[in-house]
Parts: sequence; structure tokens; C-alpha cells
Amino acid sequence: MGERQRVEALAVAYEERLAEQREGRRERGAFYTPPHLVSWVLDRALGPGVSRVLDPACGTGHFLVAAARRLGARSVHGSDLDPEAVAIARARLLAEDPTLTPEEVAQQVRVADGLTAWDGELFDAVVGNPPFLGQLRRRTAGRSDARPAAYTDTSAVFLHRALDLVRPGGTVALVQPLSVLAARDAGPVRRAVAERGAVSDLWCSPRPVFAGTAVLTCVPVVRVGDPAGTDPDGWGRLAAPSFGVPPVELRAGDRVVGDLATCTADFRDQYYGLVPHVSDGGLVDSGAPLVTSGLIEPAACEWGSRSTRFARQRYDAPVVHLAGVRAGPLASWAAARLVPKLLVAGQGRVIEAVVDEQGAWLPSVPVVTVVPHDPGDLWRLLAVLLAPPLVADAAARYLGAVLTPGSVKLSARQLAALPLPADEDAWAEGAVLAERAQRHRDPAALAATARVMARAYGGGAEVTAWWLGRAGGGGQVP
Ligand SMILES: C[S@@+](CC[C@H](N)C(=O)[O-])C[C@H]1O[C@@H](n2cnc3c(N)ncnc32)[C@H](O)[C@@H]1O
Repeated sequence: MGERQRVEALAVAYEERLAEQREGRRERGAFYTPPHLVSWVLDRALGPGVSRVLDPACGTGHFLVAAARRLGARSVHGSDLDPEAVAIARARLLAEDPTLTPEEVAQQVRVADGLTAWDGELFDAVVGNPPFLGQLRRRTAGRSDARPAAYTDTSAVFLHRALDLVRPGGTVALVQPLSVLAARDAGPVRRAVAERGAVSDLWCSPRPVFAGTAVLTCVPVVRVGDPAGTDPDGWGRLAAPSFGVPPVELRAGDRVVGDLATCTADFRDQYYGLVPHVSDGGLVDSGAPLVTSGLIEPAACEWGSRSTRFARQRYDAPVVHLAGVRAGPLASWAAARLVPKLLVAGQGRVIEAVVDEQGAWLPSVPVVTVVPHDPGDLWRLLAVLLAPPLVADAAARYLGAVLTPGSVKLSARQLAALPLPADEDAWAEGAVLAERAQRHRDPAALAATARVMARAYGGGAEVTAWWLGRAGGGGQVP
């Protein structure tokens, strides 16, 4: 067995041992990168003129060895907190290039915190797969708290740090959890990228690629110094095609949902406050149906025809006893909710919204309540929320912020910010169809609403078909 094969076998044995010690591996965030992903990254990061590359959390050196094979072993640098992994990475590089001395390779690959080890140095490219560790695990990931506060994930701190370590014109390509695309905690790093460069390419996968973990990942390729910038709120759109979300150019007017209505979410006080007042079984005098997210479908409410869960119990038809509520701290809350409104499910395959024309229902967390300033706008607002291009745009924009990418989860604030359509005539037609769809539980009218509202936003058959396919998963659409 040659030296190269011997050290490669060492790396494999080490990783297998790590895999057996699952827990230790999770602690350090050590999940090794599959070769096809290493190649994808290096194809983009190691362009012409690149001669100095860093992997700041190099593990046993998968990126380093692959980069050494392209550029020569003297071009690569790495660091890792794990001395055993570093020893293997060094041995692998020595096997790649026997002219390297152990002293040289020890300078190139260090047992060190990748967030602080390379102060003052510049590289043409920073690549790799830094640890994904939540805040609680920060300590095991070294001094990541040396970077700007409040990131949920260490991997985003590595991305931020890498921007300082790359020369203008250089590239940063680090594996990240998919949540970096839209999570609020990663907002500072997306803004830093926008200030310093642009995302030129994005790899992402709708399936996990790291053995032993369900985390979905992506690799934003950042060109440092590219003046184009990348909208910090627009990363999800770059990933949308990988999740089957059709691209859309919204033709929207100047106004937003919030100009026509007040959107409000409820919280734990309302949730727990209702518990003693809810019972099962049909309408009683002075009772209000309690509508959970699971009961809301596009233009339909399944209350009474489908069972649901509330406060760890199953109900066939949960009713809130208003006499009790009105005597307690939720009296004014209930009064504000018992008005003509729309209810929007917390998360769904599309935006799931239904009109409560009589103002008779109470929402259960996380349902969002949309109360129009003018009740004459109820059906117009329903038509908006059923519009396929609007839903596709929201699904793309917030991709990565939900556990099931491609599903739609909007906060009250995000709902209020949705733009209204530019085409008033199509919108008016859509409102009539949406009303018919809900009143008559008419699937054909719902499909027609989708088609007309796609037109209202300048969308076509592709986005309508996407919406119909998704809304069919339990809604009225056949
Ligand atoms: C997911 S592994 C990736 C290894 C390598 N990039 C690869 O794909 O083969 C992450 C590595 O980060 C290391 N690590 C964790 N915190 C670190 C830190 N602050 N500085 C350097 N390395 C760190 C772990 O020991 C682990 O080897």
C-alpha cells in the first residue's frame, strides 16, 4: 500500500470512528462533506489566478486534499480544533506532495480556532464545511462569540469571518444550513455579504446530503468585491428552483395587504387563556367555533366536519364559551376577533385562508387574523391570498425559514406586507370567483379564482399549475 492509500485509509477509519461516536460528533459539528459537493465548490472557487486557499474548519482535509490535487499542496491552508483530524489532514497533504516538510505542513494546517487563527492573512478563496452548531453548543466550537452577536448558527459566523479573509475578487464558498437563506438570525451575515460582494451561485438540495443528519444544506458562492450585491431578503429566491417553486415576476401595484386590513397574530396568553373555556360538541348558546390552523383550507373551513387538536386534546367541534371569556382577561381580545375577517393558517402548502363573514369564529394560535378596514374587501382579500404568483413569491422568499422548505409560513407582519395586484379588473373578477368558491364549496370556482388571480399578478399557466397541485393536498381542488 502506498503512502497515499495508507493516509486515506486513516482518514476513512477516523471518520468511521466518529460516526460510531455519534454524540461526540454532534458536539463538534463534524459531518463530512460528500466528494461531489467538494468538487462543486472547488469548480466555482478555484478559478484562474487562485493560488492560496483556506478551509478554516478542515477536519481530516477533504477540501484541502481535493484543492491540493488541483493547485498543488503548497497552496492550501486549514485549521481545526480537533488535533487528531489535523494530524490526518497533514499526513494526507504530505502524501500528496512528498517535497513538503512536516514543518511547512504544520504551518499550513493548524490546530486552531478557525475564527481567529488567520488574522491579518488574505486568501484567494475560503472553502469548506464549517460546524453547524446552535447557540447552546457554541463553547465547543471555540471562540465564535468573538464575532458579532446573536447568530443562531456558528456556520454563519464562519461565513461572516471568511469575508474578511478573502482578497477583493476572491471567493467564499462555505456549506451552510438551508436556514441561512431566510432565518432572521442569519440576517446580519446576509447583509454583510450584500455590502461586501454578491452571491454568484447557490447549491442546495431538497434532501439531506450529510450521512446521519436530517439538516438541509446549501452553499452560497460569494464573490467578494462584486459590486452587484445580493438582496439580503432575496436569497430564498435563488434556491426556489431546487424546491420546485416556479420563478415569478410579480406585477403588483403600490399598495399592500396592510393598507386594506389589520393583520394580527395571537400568542400564548390567548392560547392558554382559552383552554378552560373550550369544550367539544356542537354550538351551544353564546359559543364561538374555535378555528385551528388544521381546519383552514383555501376558501374553506372544515370546522365541524373534521376533528382537530387543541391544547393536547382532540375535538370534533371545539366551541369557546363566550360568557366565561367575557368575564375574564380575554374579553376585549374576543370582542376584537368576533368581527368579519379572514383567518389564515399558520403554515401550509399554499396560503390557506378563509372568510368569516359573520364574525362568528375565534382563531387558535398560530392562526393569523386579517380584519379589513372595509368589510366590502373581505372577498377581494381572499382572492389576493389565493393568488398563485403571490404564494410562489412568498414560498421562495421565505424558503429556509420553514422546516418543510417550499411550504408557506407567514407572520402577521409578512402577510401585511404582501403586495396587492396591479390588474384591478382581474382582481375584481377573482373576488367574485373566490366568494363563489367558498360559499358553494365549488372546486371549479376555486381553480378559476387561481387562474384569474395569476393573471392579476402577471403570472401564467406554470405558476397556476404549481398552486393547484399543492392546494389539492387536502383542499377543495380536485
Ligand atoms: C462539518 S466538519 C467539516 C470538516 C471538513 N470541512 C469536511 O467537510 O471534510 C466541521 C469541523 O469543524 C471543526 N470545528 C468546530 N469548531 C471549530 C472552530 N472553532 N475552528 C476550527 N474548527 C472547528 C470540527 O472539529 C470538525 O472537524
